[in-house]
Amino acid sequence: MYEDIIIALCALLAFVLALRGSRTKYEEGVPVVPALLPWLGNAVWYGTNPVKYLKQCQERYGHAFRLLLAGNRYLVVSDALGVHSLLRDKQKAFTTFPVHRLMTKTVGRVTQDFDVVQIMMERLFPIINKECSPEHLDRLAFSFNGELSRQFGAVDDQVRALPTSLVTPLSSFITKHLYCAASKTVFGPLFPFETFADFEYLEKNITSLLSLSHLLYTTRAWHDGQLHGASEMATAMMSAMKDTQLSKSDVDGTLLTFMWGLHSNTFRIAYWFLAFLLNDREIFDRVKEEIDTELRDHYGGDLNRAVSSPSSSLDKHFPLISSGIKETMRLVVLLNSLREADTDTEIRTSAGPLQIRKGDILMPNVNAVHMDDNTYEDAKTFRLDRFVGDEKSKQTHLGFGGGTHLCKGRFFAVHVIKMLTIHCVRLWDLQLTDASGKPIVGNLPPPDPRSSGFLMPSVEVYLHIRPRDAPSNNRTVLN
Ligand code: HEM
Repeated sequence: MYEDIIIALCALLAFVLALRGSRTKYEEGVPVVPALLPWLGNAVWYGTNPVKYLKQCQERYGHAFRLLLAGNRYLVVSDALGVHSLLRDKQKAFTTFPVHRLMTKTVGRVTQDFDVVQIMMERLFPIINKECSPEHLDRLAFSFNGELSRQFGAVDDQVRALPTSLVTPLSSFITKHLYCAASKTVFGPLFPFETFADFEYLEKNITSLLSLSHLLYTTRAWHDGQLHGASEMATAMMSAMKDTQLSKSDVDGTLLTFMWGLHSNTFRIAYWFLAFLLNDREIFDRVKEEIDTELRDHYGGDLNRAVSSPSSSLDKHFPLISSGIKETMRLVVLLNSLREADTDTEIRTSAGPLQIRKGDILMPNVNAVHMDDNTYEDAKTFRLDRFVGDEKSKQTHLGFGGGTHLCKGRFFAVHVIKMLTIHCVRLWDLQLTDASGKPIVGNLPPPDPRSSGFLMPSVEVYLHIRPRDAPSNNRTVLN
């Protein structure tokens, strides 16, 4: 209701501006989107539907334009070449420093934010990069696989004991199990899992969060040297921070920020991947067949053997799942992190060089690249096998960002989502419904139009879980 009023007001303002015949202004040769309101600029309109708004601007002003949003001026870049050359940043002209600073202040509530970000970028990211690399991933992957198997074993016992399906919101199912398995893997058995409710709260209220005493409690225990069972990654990060002058609470805050980053993006991709699979029975059946065939051909049909195999083995097999995860990211990741220009420079775009001035905040519009039908045929459609055997999408698939700041946890993230999918599909028959129990097949609710960094669900959907080999009278009949 309020949104409709806001949209109507914005439309009216835009109409008035159009009547005034406002000619497009340029700064440094880049068109400037006329600001509808002082200081706020176009934030209200952008906020109601960022994807649609940026698309409209792109149609009107081209692949690069300047936009005022809540006091910040952004230079939005929307074409593949422009985004790619911005992310690759060969001249080292751009920094992500302000973004990490904002995150550590908001999520971790750190006080020495400048030092924290420097330490994160120089000392912690290389550790994450190394521990999540294909060469070292097994240290994390084995532990994660074991944890996930244990948890899903318990769910399976519960499912088998029920006369009907187990019904659970899809998002809580994914986040709870990944939170517990990945946190235990990374932070060790001391990690207090009852913090899950706090974490969900953090996810939902990231900007208004005030304190997370349970999570901070754990990290405080670590200051006393109780690192029992934590991953090499967390241990190395802790000792890297011990060498610094950071206060205890800033170390807590840094770890909390890391933990949030570790989980939240992975949850989102896992959520949408399962939702896309369950929304189309044909796609789901193809994945099921791949899992059964690959498990039979490479692991003697035994899920436990796959679980205890090196991560490189999983990486080699299950090509449809790998492609589906990449395809999900293509559809779901909307923006990569912002960049700030450290110096006057230029980047290449399809329309020629784009001049950038020192201090410009650049917004790489990844969604525009991912949704370009010239790059990805039938771009709006989820195609499970789009990336099977694909070597060419390096410049145009930007789900993990690119260049120097390419996601450091990408191999771990893909492993986690793959394991989750293999377990769920191998163990259970799964179906999605809405809150009233009406099946969702081919009619997945549209995402929240206000989604900005990632697509977000607009309403909760429910997962119905029953044993795969259950007799038909044990089924929840869905149509
Ligand atoms: C599917 C899940 C994930 C997605 C889609 C994702 C995506 C991204 C994106 C888009 C960026 C920004 C890249 C850029 O600005 O160019 C990023 C950065 C980063 N990610 Fe991930 N990420 C995921 C999981 C993870 C995990 C599990 C970890 C840790 C284990 C992680 C650690 C990082 C770090 C440390 C950076 C900062 C890199 C830098 O600035 O140098 N990510 N990620």
